[in-house]
Amino acid sequence: MRSADWLLFLAFLPWISSAEMDICSAKPKDLALQPRCIYRKPEPEAPEEPEPELKSEVLPEPMNPRVWELSNANSHFALSLYKQLTRGRTPEQNIFISPISISTAFAMTKLGACNQTLEQIMKVFQFDTISEKTSDQVHFFFAKLNCRLYRKKDQTTELISANRLFGEKSLVFNETYQNISETVYGAKLLPLNFKMNPEEARVTINDWISNRTNNRIRDTLPSGALDSNTVLVLVNTIFFKGQWKNKFPKEYVSPSDFYVSTDRTCQVPMMYQETQFRYKHFPDDKVQLLEMPYTGDDITMVIILPSRGNPLSEVEENLDLKKLNGWLDQMKDTTVSASVPRFRVQDNLSLKEKLQEMGLTDLFNANKASLPGILEDGSDSLFISEAFHKTFLEVNEEGSEAAAVTAVVAVGRSFNLQREVFLANRPFLVLIREATVNTLLFVGRVADPCDQ
Ligand SMILES: *[C@@H]1O[C@H](CO)[C@@H](O)[C@H](O)[C@H]1NC(C)=O
Ligand SMILES: *[C@@H]1O[C@H](CO)[C@@H](O)[C@H](O)[C@H]1NC(C)=O
Ligand SMILES: *[C@@H]1O[C@H](CO)[C@@H](O)[C@H](O)[C@H]1NC(C)=O
Ligand SMILES: *[C@@H]1O[C@H](CO)[C@@H](O)[C@H](O)[C@H]1NC(C)=O
Ligand SMILES: *[C@@H]1O[C@H](CO)[C@@H](O)[C@H](O)[C@H]1NC(C)=O
Repeated sequence: MRSADWLLFLAFLPWISSAEMDICSAKPKDLALQPRCIYRKPEPEAPEEPEPELKSEVLPEPMNPRVWELSNANSHFALSLYKQLTRGRTPEQNIFISPISISTAFAMTKLGACNQTLEQIMKVFQFDTISEKTSDQVHFFFAKLNCRLYRKKDQTTELISANRLFGEKSLVFNETYQNISETVYGAKLLPLNFKMNPEEARVTINDWISNRTNNRIRDTLPSGALDSNTVLVLVNTIFFKGQWKNKFPKEYVSPSDFYVSTDRTCQVPMMYQETQFRYKHFPDDKVQLLEMPYTGDDITMVIILPSRGNPLSEVEENLDLKKLNGWLDQMKDTTVSASVPRFRVQDNLSLKEKLQEMGLTDLFNANKASLPGILEDGSDSLFISEAFHKTFLEVNEEGSEAAAVTAVVAVGRSFNLQREVFLANRPFLVLIREATVNTLLFVGRVADPCDQ
């Protein structure tokens, strides 16, 4: 058995910048980002085909093409993980994850990884699709992506990310590891006494997470999740709060049936408005897409609603990034009579099993994990014992997040023959994305909005 048990944990994230250097204006040569090990992509045997989805949208300018590639890599991972989750749940169960939070936390883990452990992280998180020969560059582009996502001049929506390392205080952590972690991810190391008092450390970490998520995420580490063998807990949180650019009038909210499945309905408060949104009906794919912007316009919610009679599972099975980006590109400003339930979804899952199924096995294996870059003595005795993910989403007339839930939705009032009708009264997919970089911040399924 390995002596040290390293637990990794994730929640939702905010981002704190490191004091010394402004990473957002730094050039690669300004930063000595030399993690312990570097993974080199094997030379491709045949010339690689260009990724069609990279061309489908105009690169927002000025944007580093590698940052765009990283964002795409994260989105590929997001959809793979989402599909993996659907296999473990019934069609009536909600799903809600923050893929960018998960990718960020594992990119931080990658800083200390070597050998096959490193290679598996590169592959499962699709970091190896970025056209750089070596893996160390990923961190630089992550820093740049974070700058685009979290350092907006426009303060009308809140999108905040925070990262932190909690380390056993009797151990010495590799200084280079700590430096990179802090420079790139803003993750300072806080020493805690896991050895003598794991329970107190657990509460400290849970309180920190709760504080960074506006108290929406509590008790992330369940009791017993840490013990005296814990060496490091790596935390990444993301918090979003946005007001709709077009609010739903309160007076149009009315109770309405939601068709959870063919044999079950429940009542939801349905919100209603008729407004110009980006929208499109794709009859061949049997879906309607509606995109509702938050104030500031950079962040939007996309709802993917299967046509009546087309089960959501069918849409989920056929969904990939190429298809999704194709849909998003074709949406047009359209007057839509939109009915969307007011709802709240919370999710909480162990990522370990899902990521193992996707090929990330060595990292969680006490005998195979290779993480020598983390401790000062270079000892290769760490592995990851668990990875938790917990999420919260509330959608109401004003926007998303905000307290007090349930109750809902509206039925058509004005009669306009030109309008498109978008009635989300059956299970749908929901994405919250940053539209200029095309990053999926949150991905989920609302199958049972009455389950809260
Ligand atoms: C700390 O990590 C760096 C690589 O990131 C490595 O070069 C250095 O040797 C490590 N320090 C020790 C004392 O092992
Ligand atoms: C794993 O990486 C370490 C470097 O940290 C190296 O010494 C060792 O030989 C590698 N093991 C394998 C099996 O490649
Ligand atoms: C880490 O950062 C500190 C402060 O910036 C610096 O003094 C130190 O030399 C760095 N250490 C390593 C190993 O890079
Ligand atoms: C988080 O902690 C800071 C400092 O203690 C405090 O000012 C802030 O109100 C807290 N936020 C929440 C949401 O609890
Ligand atoms: C997370 O979900 C599991 C079941 O999936 C449940 O046993 C556990 O209590 C939940 N934890 C929290 C903190 O809600």
